[in-house]
Amino acid sequence: MKYPNGSQTSELMQTIQYILTPLEYLDKCAKTYGDIFSLRLIGFPPYVVLSNPQGIKEVFTAAPNLFYAGEANKYLPQTILGASSLVLIDGDYHQRQRRLLTPAFHGERMQAYGQLICDITKQVMSKWTIDKPFNVRSSMQDISLQVILKAVFGLDAGLRFQQLKQLLSSMMDVFSSSWSSSFLFIQTLQWDLGPWSVWGSFLRFCEQADELIYAEIRQRRNDPNLFGEDILSFMMTACDEEGQPMTDVELRDELITLLVAGHETTATALTWALYWIHYLPEVRESLLTELEVLRSNPEPTDVARLPYLNAVCSETLRIYPVTLFTFSRIVQAPVQIMGYQFEPGTMISPCIYLTHHREDLYPEPWCFRPERFLKRQFSPYEFLPFGGGNRRCLGMAFAQFEIKLVLATLLFHQKLRLVKFHRVKPVRRGLTIAPPGNLCLIPTS
Ligand code: HEM
Repeated sequence: MKYPNGSQTSELMQTIQYILTPLEYLDKCAKTYGDIFSLRLIGFPPYVVLSNPQGIKEVFTAAPNLFYAGEANKYLPQTILGASSLVLIDGDYHQRQRRLLTPAFHGERMQAYGQLICDITKQVMSKWTIDKPFNVRSSMQDISLQVILKAVFGLDAGLRFQQLKQLLSSMMDVFSSSWSSSFLFIQTLQWDLGPWSVWGSFLRFCEQADELIYAEIRQRRNDPNLFGEDILSFMMTACDEEGQPMTDVELRDELITLLVAGHETTATALTWALYWIHYLPEVRESLLTELEVLRSNPEPTDVARLPYLNAVCSETLRIYPVTLFTFSRIVQAPVQIMGYQFEPGTMISPCIYLTHHREDLYPEPWCFRPERFLKRQFSPYEFLPFGGGNRRCLGMAFAQFEIKLVLATLLFHQKLRLVKFHRVKPVRRGLTIAPPGNLCLIPTS
């Protein structure tokens, strides 16, 4: 059987390098072994990294029962998501849950969140003081967390909203360093050693979040007047083909999945975008010129259509994609990809980062150049920050809309500059790759 080449160093060394210096390690492997290679990681099955668009197309367009992503995600901690979380299930059950959830993220429903996003952005901006640096990550996380909580729960500044906001922030902060991130990858580290330990504190945050979410579901079941325009109301009334609604456990699992998947990722993308816009004056100038055409309080849908803003967002997600990989897919039946034969149980991981750094697609891939996206249309197998196929990010349209509106609102209303003007390097933050946590901007008059 022909199998892709890969490093011969021990599993332990490969795992350490992958956790501590993921970009450097992936670049090194791609340089040595090409756009399909194998990795050996502790606790994982045979693992194949793919950054060839044709190979990625073969994975994304395969029948849904040929590759299982839910099974692959079980190698990541499930404590928080729950067994019926969309990201952990496969086959017919996955298709049913996706069908129930998808309408909440499309078309007119999306537009309804436009004003909400602009209002939350202005509210967060109002806390900044001229000439006083603020932490970009914290502010962007504040925005994305409030947006997702309000869109999902329709909750306003009540006690439960405040408690959930606090809890989700703390939960994500547990894994904010490379060291603490390793707890997510290495199951043997996942021991509850009390409330002050990394895993123990995470478990306690999860329990508290559960209580709050179940309390919200119970309250709504008891009082139908509480149903509104939010995603939870929509989920509680949606039924499958057999007329079956979601159970409370399914609701809880999907809700927490949306909250976790939706806020950290968007905050990371926003932080990167603000960094690039203020690191490269010509990018900021071009954006301001484009925005000037619109009035000072434009319709959200007009903002979302701006071509240069769209190109800046795409280039932000290209150069350092929020997640290095799409979900891995576990092969269910013998399959050939790019001439290699893979047996059931093999884990195939389309690598977003390496695909986005292919010189043949993106010349000088280390340079931030939004113009690439104005000159050329990339296929879904060449530009894939939201993954693809039957697992493509459910919140893609929501996230893109939010990022554009937040950036436009900030640029319209506040002049900013970087505190330290230098090229920053990405760091690992939980399962994502993000700018360093201490990145600061200064509002200027
Ligand atoms: C910049 C922001 C975001 C990025 C870069 C991102 C990226 C991704 C990626 C790469 C995947 C895996 C897709 C695959 O394996 O093919 C994914 C899945 C998913 N994302 Fe996002 N995401 C973002 C925002 C959001 C938001 C705002 C939500 C929800 C409100 C969300 C909900 C989900 C869900 C539920 C899945 C699982 C889909 C499934 O298994 O069928 N994401 N996302």
